[in-house]
Amino acid sequence: MGFIHRIISLAFCSTILLPSSASVSRLPPNKPLTVGETLVSDDGTFALGFFSPSNSTRNHYYVGIWHNSIPKDNVVWVANRATPITDPSSATFALTTRRSNLVLSNTDGQLLWMARNLSASESNITGEATLDDTGNFILRTSEGVVLWQSFDYPTDTLLPGMNLRITHNRHALQRLVSWKDPQDPSPGSFSYGADPDEFLQRFVWNDSRPCRRSAVWSNYLVVGPYMESVKTTIYMTVSRIDGEIYMSFGMPGGSSTVKIKMDYSGKIEILVWNSNMLDWYVLQAEPSHQCSTYGYCGPFGYCDNTEPIATCRCLNSFEPANSKDWIGGKFSEGCRRKEPLRCGRENWFLTLTEMKIPDKFVYVKNRSLDECSAECTSNCSCTAYAYANMSTTAINGDDTRCLLWMGDLIDTEKLIGGENLYIRVDRLSDKVRSGNILKITLPVVSSLLILICMWVVWICSCQAKQRNKKIWKNMISGALSTSDELADAKFPFISFREIVLATDNFSRSNMLGHGGFGNVYKGTLESGKKVAVKRLSKSSGQGVLEFRNEVIIIAKLQHRNLVKLLGFCIHRDEKLLIYEYLPNKSLDAFLFNSTRKPLLHWSIRFNIIIGIARGLLYLHQDSRPKIIHRDLKANNILLDDEMSPKISDFGMARIFDGNQQQGNTNRVVGTYGYMSPEYALEGVFSVKSDVYSFGVLILEVVNGTKISSMHITEDFPNLIAYAWSLWKDGNTRDFVDSAIVETCSLDETSRCIHVGLLCVQDNPSDRPLMSSILSILENGDISLPPPKQPIYFAERNYGTFGEVEAIMNSANTVSTTVLEGR
Ligand SMILES: *[C@@H]1O[C@H](CO)[C@@H](O)[C@H](O)[C@H]1NC(C)=O
Ligand SMILES: *[C@@H]1O[C@H](CO)[C@@H](O)[C@H](O)[C@H]1NC(C)=O
Ligand SMILES: *[C@@H]1O[C@H](CO)[C@@H](O)[C@H](O)[C@H]1NC(C)=O
Ligand SMILES: *[C@@H]1O[C@H](CO)[C@@H](O)[C@H](O)[C@H]1NC(C)=O
Ligand SMILES: *[C@@H]1O[C@H](CO)[C@@H](O)[C@H](O)[C@H]1NC(C)=O
Ligand SMILES: *[C@@H]1O[C@H](CO)[C@@H](O)[C@H](O)[C@H]1NC(C)=O
Ligand SMILES: *[C@@H]1O[C@H](CO)[C@@H](O)[C@H](O)[C@H]1NC(C)=O
Repeated sequence: MGFIHRIISLAFCSTILLPSSASVSRLPPNKPLTVGETLVSDDGTFALGFFSPSNSTRNHYYVGIWHNSIPKDNVVWVANRATPITDPSSATFALTTRRSNLVLSNTDGQLLWMARNLSASESNITGEATLDDTGNFILRTSEGVVLWQSFDYPTDTLLPGMNLRITHNRHALQRLVSWKDPQDPSPGSFSYGADPDEFLQRFVWNDSRPCRRSAVWSNYLVVGPYMESVKTTIYMTVSRIDGEIYMSFGMPGGSSTVKIKMDYSGKIEILVWNSNMLDWYVLQAEPSHQCSTYGYCGPFGYCDNTEPIATCRCLNSFEPANSKDWIGGKFSEGCRRKEPLRCGRENWFLTLTEMKIPDKFVYVKNRSLDECSAECTSNCSCTAYAYANMSTTAINGDDTRCLLWMGDLIDTEKLIGGENLYIRVDRLSDKVRSGNILKITLPVVSSLLILICMWVVWICSCQAKQRNKKIWKNMISGALSTSDELADAKFPFISFREIVLATDNFSRSNMLGHGGFGNVYKGTLESGKKVAVKRLSKSSGQGVLEFRNEVIIIAKLQHRNLVKLLGFCIHRDEKLLIYEYLPNKSLDAFLFNSTRKPLLHWSIRFNIIIGIARGLLYLHQDSRPKIIHRDLKANNILLDDEMSPKISDFGMARIFDGNQQQGNTNRVVGTYGYMSPEYALEGVFSVKSDVYSFGVLILEVVNGTKISSMHITEDFPNLIAYAWSLWKDGNTRDFVDSAIVETCSLDETSRCIHVGLLCVQDNPSDRPLMSSILSILENGDISLPPPKQPIYFAERNYGTFGEVEAIMNSANTVSTTVLEGR
């Protein structure tokens, strides 16, 4: 942008040479702007004037607005895109005096551009034009009425505060239109804006062909990912102004420079200026890969973005229409049903999660989810539906968004952050192929159904009886508790029936996870509250009384970084724990997933490490009784909606081992890779075994790889050995997850690796206590002892499950049960 630099310095000179004019952000009616002069917004952010695109050999000049303090790719608006100034020597940009128009004239007086099409009746308006701090150039009458503003005529860039019209009731739709090439602002072939038929979705077009479709709005306020570099996030929002609907975007706390740009090459990008790197940082760019170009996978196919390499797949119960082409990487013919759909009672809807829903939907207003589903069920041409609660009625006076598809499903994708899509399938088509099996299966299924019904009826009547006799309550609370603990037992007992209802009878689709202690289900209580239900495996071998007492003790432990236990249930030999439900699931779901891990920026990871340390410190030192977790690992760290960590499964060791208070156990619970040598081999546990697991966890968080992952690098048996080797060579940077290494604080990562290595030392007494770990992590400047080389596990390539057992058996433990070897 050499020319712009020149202009800026010229402008700077002129303010020194001339008696300074009061405001440089205002264009007065009688003083045209000429080449070399600029207007600068009051806070200095934006400038308006003549420019020639950098590196351009054409010698074309334009009037535009640019980011004043940014040296490259800084133009955000151009007045005369299609009509360049060829002879700039005395071209003028003026505010006309009588009729208040902005006019750009060439040296010979030829009109190149004007802001307003004046109507004949307009005359004698005195106006003034000002370049605003937002980058908007506004022409107002002296009464303050806006006659014209540059924000109403977007070129290729959307700035925060600028509205892009996505409906066309009374005015035309607005689009961003790309430059022809980086040196030529004239309108290129790519544009970005709303679907003219349906404001709920946007497209990038190549001339008139769609080449990429955005996800459909599922909320009128979408908050983007957190950005480490600027410590904030981006939001996009939809609002209704004066009968039309507009989209806009912004940045809360918006001190950074950000823009959305329709790039000349067809990419639509969200860009943030990084003042350290002196470059634009691409926060988001679409299209990201070929598979997600519009309709690439054909009808009923979808682009699976959750795979390491995005690829086309067929929707469930569909198969490639032309398998030869499909295998050969030609997907445009898409997929067909494995079996033709017979419309009728046999149909049901399959839920596909995390989908970018297809194009060509019918938007039905004012429907609840059930009504939406019924609408689709009742019409045989309806192939799918999707539903969202937009959570504001501000747009349509209606917060529902029921979408139906009446034919092919085109341009579907699977991606993180997608929504549910319900597609019509034949109830039995997937499972049952041949008529014979059908004949056998139907009676079996129906008799099973009858059995289940009988069982449910039995449970209900049984519980009703018990409720009448109050046996139930007495058995659980009264009879078992004589002490003051009864007073503390505000802590609710939740009936088995309610849990069966809440979890849809422990249905597989509600299962959140499974582990050595049992399965975990998602449930919704009658009150509407979402919970996680842990159904303990039956092998705990603990009596009802012990179990109940343990639960009450554990429920008293309260800490920000521990998952809250809400209630429990005992029913025959079922034992269930009810926890708060955390929507972000567990740490491993982010950390070990290649698409999600970049969302875990270093500052989030560091907060997670600190949070876990605080929770553990509480368990080890401040809680009564003291708790040793014994199964700390990434799956047991849950994340709340602010990505703050909560340790789960604490106290499980107590429940499963209630009578074991001494530091030796005949039952090793824990997970391979996280267990300290002395615990895995000798069953000896102490707070220092948790410290060991914590050390492993820190290394995983920094490196973004599972301890048990076999392919970190061929030269090292595991993550610990790898960390040690790099640390020894003073090269901790290479250990940091490549997804975050650019934006992390190397000081903090290096400190974390050091602490991690101190925690995984072989000798428990060498490992620091949680209290010192927390203070090292938080205060940073304490000088640390060097870690000793971890030898025991780091030197063994204990790759398979069998080998672990072999090691442990050879160490002659009484009995070892390694739970959950993943
Ligand atoms: C302009 O040219 C220089 C040198 O050839 C190059 O480094 C720079 O990237 C170019 N800038 C743009 C915007 O194309
Ligand atoms: C002025 O009128 C022309 C021709 O009708 C039209 O193309 C242009 O968009 C109008 N300009 C404004 C600022 O409304
Ligand atoms: C326009 O302004 C001029 C001078 O300010 C004044 O003499 C004239 O009467 C005005 N005309 C109208 C139609 O207001
Ligand atoms: C846009 O369309 C042109 C002309 O049809 C074509 O050559 C070009 O490859 C297309 N570009 C993209 C990115 O689709
Ligand atoms: C939505 O539908 C209900 C009945 O189903 C009706 O009472 C209500 O007025 C409708 N609301 C709108 C905004 O159309
Ligand atoms: C099904 O939906 C289509 C498209 O909206 C409509 O034309 C047709 O009348 C509907 N059929 C029934 C039975 O409602
Ligand atoms: C949508 O969500 C809001 C707030 O959560 C709720 O008040 C409203 O009833 C919901 N609407 C529907 C149709 O579910």
